[in-house]
Amino acid sequence: MSSTALTFPASFTFGVATSAYQVEGGIENDWAEWERQGKLKEPHARCGLAVDHWRRYAEDYALAKAVGATAFRLSLEWARIEPERGRFDGAALEGYRERLLKMRAQGLRPVVTLHHFTHPTWFHASTPWHLPESLEAFRQYVRRCAPLLEGLDALVISFNEPMVLLLGGYLQGLMPPGIADGAKTMAALGNMVRAHVIAREELGQHLGRVELGISQNMLAFTPDRWWHPLDRSLVRLAAPAYNHAFHEALSSGHLRVFMPGVASTDVRIEGARDSVEFVGVNYYTRAHLRFMPRPPFIDFKYRDPDGRGLTDIGWEQRPEGFLQLLQEVKRYGKPVWVTENGIDDRKGTVRPEYLHAHLRQVLAAREAGVDVQGYLYWSLLDNFEWLEGWGPRFGLYHVDFDTLERRPTPACDYFREVATGRVLVPPASVAGVASAQPSAAR
Ligand code: BGC
Repeated sequence: MSSTALTFPASFTFGVATSAYQVEGGIENDWAEWERQGKLKEPHARCGLAVDHWRRYAEDYALAKAVGATAFRLSLEWARIEPERGRFDGAALEGYRERLLKMRAQGLRPVVTLHHFTHPTWFHASTPWHLPESLEAFRQYVRRCAPLLEGLDALVISFNEPMVLLLGGYLQGLMPPGIADGAKTMAALGNMVRAHVIAREELGQHLGRVELGISQNMLAFTPDRWWHPLDRSLVRLAAPAYNHAFHEALSSGHLRVFMPGVASTDVRIEGARDSVEFVGVNYYTRAHLRFMPRPPFIDFKYRDPDGRGLTDIGWEQRPEGFLQLLQEVKRYGKPVWVTENGIDDRKGTVRPEYLHAHLRQVLAAREAGVDVQGYLYWSLLDNFEWLEGWGPRFGLYHVDFDTLERRPTPACDYFREVATGRVLVPPASVAGVASAQPSAAR
C-alpha cells in the first residue's frame, strides 16, 4: 500500500458500538427469562444491572469522546419501550430521546439499532417472527420509535445480525425463543425482511428522509479440509446464504437461501428492492466448515493456521477475511459502514494490534474502490456477552464488574491516535501502547 493509502479522509467516521441489553441494566425481556431458565454457559449468570449504562450514560458518552469517536451506536430496547403489548412506556421513550439529544449535543452522531436480538417477553408468546402477526407488532413499536430520531441525522439499523438470531433462536434453539424448526426459520427470515420494509415505511412517514440499513454478521468461510469436495461445497452454499441473503434481499428484492437438507427459500419480498441507504458489516472471524454425514450436516470450527493466536473467546484472527467481505459487498453499490469489529482480549494487550490489522483492511478496501465510510469498534465497554455471560471482554474500556468502574485499556490511546490523527500508524509507535504489546506473533 502507498503511504497516502494509510490515511483516512476527514469524512471517515470513527465510532464505538453498544447494545441496550448488554450495557443498560434493569431490563426484563426474553433474555432475562432465558437466564432464569439457566440456559447460559454458566447457568447462574445474570445480566441484571449489566454495566449500569442507563444511569451512567453521560460518563460513557464522555469516554467515547475521549477516544476520538464521533459516532455512537446504541440500540433501543423494545421491552423497555413496550413492556406489555400495546402499552408504551412514556418515561422510557423520553429517556431515550434525552439520551439521543445529549449524545448529539456532544458531537456524537447516533447510530440507532431498532432491534438487537432481544424482545419483550410477550412477543414470542403471541407473535413470534414466523407468524405474520409479528409484522404488525413491529410496526407499532417502530411507529413509537420514529419521533425519537427527529432532527438527529442518525444512521438507523433495523436489525442487528438477523441471521444470528434466526440460526441461534429458530434453527438451533440455543437462544430465545428456543425454537428448532427449519420451516419456521425460513418463515421468520421472510418476515424479518418484511419487517425491515415496514421500518422503512414507518420511519419514512415520520421523518421524511432516513438513512437505513441492517448490520449483517459476516464470516469468512473456508473448507476445514481444503481437499474435501463436500467441505468445499458447503462453503459454496453457506457463504451466500449466511453472508448475503439479507443484503441481497434488501438490494434486489429477492430473498434466496439454498441449503439443501437444512433450509431453503426463494421468494420476492414486496418493497425490499433497494431498501437500504448503506450496507452494515459486522466482522469478527473466519469459520472452517466441515461436512458431517448426519443432520445438520455442517460442523464449524475456529482454527489458527496462521499462528496469530485464537482470541480469548476462541475465534481466529483473520484480518484478510475482512477485506474479502468488504470487497464482496461492493456489489450492492451503496456506502458501507463497519457497524462492529472487535476482539475479546481479557488482558487488553492484543487489541491495539488487532485494530491496526483490521483498519489496514478497511483502507485496503477503500483503495480497491469500496466506499467504506465509517468504522464502529465493538465495544466501548466490557459488557454482558449473551450465552457467554460475563467472561469475554470486548471493551476499549475495561469494566470492573463488581464496582462498575471503567478503566482505559491500551487500545484507547491507540484508537484515539488513529481516529484523530487520521493516519494508520503501528501500535508500537504510540506512547503508552508500545509497552503493553505482547511478545511473539500475537
Ligand atoms: C453482536 C454483539 C456481540 C458481539 C460479540 C455480535 O455478534 O452483535 O451483540 O456482543 O458480536 O460477540
